[in-house]
Amino acid sequence: MITEAVAQSIPKVSLHCHLLGSVPAETAVQLTRRSGIAIPGDPDAHTVYDSAAYEDLGEFLSVYDLIGAALQHRDDYRRITYESLTVFGSEHTVWYREIFVSPQPSPLPYATALAGILDGMRDAQSDTGIESRIIVAIHREHTVAEAVSLVQEVIDHRIDEVVGIGLDYQEILGPPAPFAPAYALAEQAGLHRTAHSESGPPDHIEVILDQLRCSRIDHGYHVVTDPAITQRCVDEQVPFTCTPVSSDIGRYSGSGDGSHRRIAQMVDAGLKVCIDSDDPPMFGTDPTNDYVAVGTALGYHIPQLAAFTANAIDACWLDDTDKARLRQRLTTWMQTTGSDL
Ligand code: ADE
Ligand code: ZN
Repeated sequence: MITEAVAQSIPKVSLHCHLLGSVPAETAVQLTRRSGIAIPGDPDAHTVYDSAAYEDLGEFLSVYDLIGAALQHRDDYRRITYESLTVFGSEHTVWYREIFVSPQPSPLPYATALAGILDGMRDAQSDTGIESRIIVAIHREHTVAEAVSLVQEVIDHRIDEVVGIGLDYQEILGPPAPFAPAYALAEQAGLHRTAHSESGPPDHIEVILDQLRCSRIDHGYHVVTDPAITQRCVDEQVPFTCTPVSSDIGRYSGSGDGSHRRIAQMVDAGLKVCIDSDDPPMFGTDPTNDYVAVGTALGYHIPQLAAFTANAIDACWLDDTDKARLRQRLTTWMQTTGSDL
């Protein structure tokens, strides 16, 4: 049985955590009230994130959008970035994060939001050492034209910290194939690419790989329902960024009973699985808790959990030198615990 203290101490690399989904409850209440954004029921910090009350992904995303709408100043972005990287990052031994940023719900211009995020990234790194980069996520329920113009905006404001693009919100309302032009634009500009596939059929995974030309899949649990696609992803060592607790609540990763059946099947099949927290406070979790959840369900201890971190180092979009540095740091940490990867 993996304890919370041990899970907390295991180094982590976070490839699937949304900025708008990792705003501490108190901050979410303060910012929405200050901005005059009404969350139904006027919840307080104890009730604003009631994951049991989310009827479905759409209901969860409506709260996520209201938090985005409350971000009206550069400093709001600095604050939430700093809090996300510390409260749900460095405090859980997250060494490095690629932050999913959804600019579309906020009224602020992209460049202003970006400036605030960079402020928060810099402050979090100087206070705690956590490193981070940005993935700009496309709202798949909006039009393809809007997606193309967002990618163009990312290119127009190109900075090294923005390493790639993603695709999120409800897959059923925004299947991946139509977004190929936005992804082609990103590829031409040298941006890395990933996309969510949580509730969709397994062939969306092939669309994401072949038409959006992504190097990672976010969630992707349905892969195990198709042996041919599973084998292809094993052969190509496609990384999957799985989020046990948030997906169990939504029942995408299995039965919703804490067994994380699909994640176990993915690991057993030889797929390259990484573990993260998605929208930690909104689903009542954090990076430690997700390692505990999957460790408990799969009977894993330090070596197998640290192997998820090693997979995330391989899958991340740092350059080869920085990846080698993280790998060495993880190996050194493993030696201090007396385990091997
Ligand atoms: N945006 C933030 N979290 C998400 C999730 N779990 N699924 C889809 N879109 C999201
Ligand atoms: Zn997600």
